[in-house]
Amino acid sequence: MEKREMLYEGKAKQIFKTEKEDELIVYYKDDATAFDGEKKGQIYNKGIMNNRISNFFFEYLEDRGIKTHYLQDINQRETLVRSVEIIPIEVVMRNIAAGSLSRRLGLEEGTSLPEPVLEFYYKDDDLGDPLINESHIKILDLASPGQLAEISEMAGKINELLVDFLQERGIDLVDFKLEFGLTGDQEIILADEISPDTCRFWDSETGEKLDKDRFRRDLGDVEAAYQEMLRRITGNEEM
Ligand code: TMP
Repeated sequence: MEKREMLYEGKAKQIFKTEKEDELIVYYKDDATAFDGEKKGQIYNKGIMNNRISNFFFEYLEDRGIKTHYLQDINQRETLVRSVEIIPIEVVMRNIAAGSLSRRLGLEEGTSLPEPVLEFYYKDDDLGDPLINESHIKILDLASPGQLAEISEMAGKINELLVDFLQERGIDLVDFKLEFGLTGDQEIILADEISPDTCRFWDSETGEKLDKDRFRRDLGDVEAAYQEMLRRITGNEEM
């Protein structure tokens, strides 16, 4: 495929057109931000590690019946994906209380939730990605009730698949964020990425944080945490 002009630049990725209208190239940067871009930094080789981790998860999910935008690994930092119109909802699934859920509901971080908690956030930087509910999604016309039901079902299935996979590798999947997109023929597929940038991963034995919270909270050893997740997931340390 041919890499053409940049279509979009986000905080952690750039998106390029290709010669095919329905295929795009994602380039993973080392840039890291937190708190709506207020905190900025770089995580050495994060782009390489997130590209590998996310592609691994997307292939794993595809093999188990989840439709995703993933098409083909191109190089260390680039992946070919299906072009979609991103549904502007950040879908968060939680298994253990942490982060904004702990703050909002006064639940101590680390409290096991009796069942997975599904949340929606309106993907809008100017508004600071506010928490929204089904009524808000309806009045803003972000997705139809049928589409939202499909997204919710997919998120639940993805959670089960990832929890099982990670448990065997000594990782607790605390929570994670997904984004979905619509293809040209209105099919809903999983898009964006699944990586330590978008998930909370805790070592099941020690509770050690192996995700972007090390950057957000200045815990140190950020690169080592991403590297360790790559090793746990792929069983392979070299990059
Ligand atoms: P939260 O506890 O800060 O709401 O985060 C929940 C999950 O969503 C956590 O795994 C990190 C992920 N997340 C993103 O991927 N992007 C974001 O902008 C935020 C705020 C969280």
